[in-house]
Amino acid sequence: MYFALPKEYREAGTAELSDRILAAKAGLGKRAIILTHHYQRVEIVDVGDAVGDSYGLSKIAASRGDVEFIFFCGVHFMAEAADILSQDYQKVYLPNPLAGCPMADMAEMDDVFEAWAVLENFGGENKIMPISYMNSAAGLKAFTGKHGGLICTSSNADAAYKYGFGNREKLFFFPDRHLGYNTGIKYGLKPEDMALWDFSKEMGGLTEEQIKKAKVILWKGYCHVHTNFKEEHILEIRDKYPSAKIVVHPECPHEVVSKADAVGSTSFIVKYVESQPAGSVIAIGTEINLINRLALRHPEMRIFELSGQICPVCANMYRTTVNDLAYCMEHFEDLRPITVPEETKKYALLALERMLEVH
Ligand code: 13P
Ligand code: SF4
Repeated sequence: MYFALPKEYREAGTAELSDRILAAKAGLGKRAIILTHHYQRVEIVDVGDAVGDSYGLSKIAASRGDVEFIFFCGVHFMAEAADILSQDYQKVYLPNPLAGCPMADMAEMDDVFEAWAVLENFGGENKIMPISYMNSAAGLKAFTGKHGGLICTSSNADAAYKYGFGNREKLFFFPDRHLGYNTGIKYGLKPEDMALWDFSKEMGGLTEEQIKKAKVILWKGYCHVHTNFKEEHILEIRDKYPSAKIVVHPECPHEVVSKADAVGSTSFIVKYVESQPAGSVIAIGTEINLINRLALRHPEMRIFELSGQICPVCANMYRTTVNDLAYCMEHFEDLRPITVPEETKKYALLALERMLEVH
């Protein structure tokens, strides 16, 4: 459903809207918190109470039982996770309800259920553990919880693999093939231990033999922002700036990840930059709003985007504006919070709590 902000909110300037957000927040006092993901616009992060990666923000949502309202500036699956992890008396608002994640949408519930129905013939939950990346719909988190699996983010995928293989023979990882593959290699698996499940094909395009042999079955989803980074970008940087450090997000393809100096979640990237000495040259392979904010915050270093060619913007993260947030905070009583149905919540919570335990 398309919703246009009233003219007053569309036409106001950033400074006025930021003041209004801060005034609305002050009016709510301790009853509200504004959470912002690292990929949000700088003016959103500036008015927020906390900025973090998807794991860090879900931890905050789980631990702030003292607030009534959580304004979540991120994308839909993150707000859903916050709703699942928060208490029943708390309400979570996504200031721009159109902010989704195309990668999460690559794992449709019916397709995943169909894949699982096939995998039941190969041992199902006796042998195979579903691991769902945080970037997935609440219904899939519930599916994962129901079958004894867990959620992972880019900051705890290693721990999730360890937990998975500690309890079952095989993993069924969705939706990000790259995070799944990169984590598998880091865990010590060989490329031939991992099979790609192509959801557009019968039996995922795999033979019985391939399914039996695979230690990890990877869903064929990806992030269109991070798959734009290529090996040649790394080679160019190494050639042009031999002393440069390269840090990338694990949603990048393996040929990029394997040639970077460091790999990790958005919060890891922030900490990595903070740990480098003044004068460092750092090329970053992730979303552009985070890179620009880091470059602004660290004028003592030379920080830039890895490719030098593409503009790796996450259009969905970019959807949320101060116009949306001001409107949402001033009208939240008339707006619909993000609400995950109770039955879904119950099982999704199992998978999310397991994630928090094994981190
Ligand atoms: P983080 O968990 O590292 O914040 O990443 C979320 C995401 O969507 C990256 O594209
Ligand atoms: Fe989804 Fe990619 Fe945007 Fe992250 S950067 S929210 S994975 S589309």
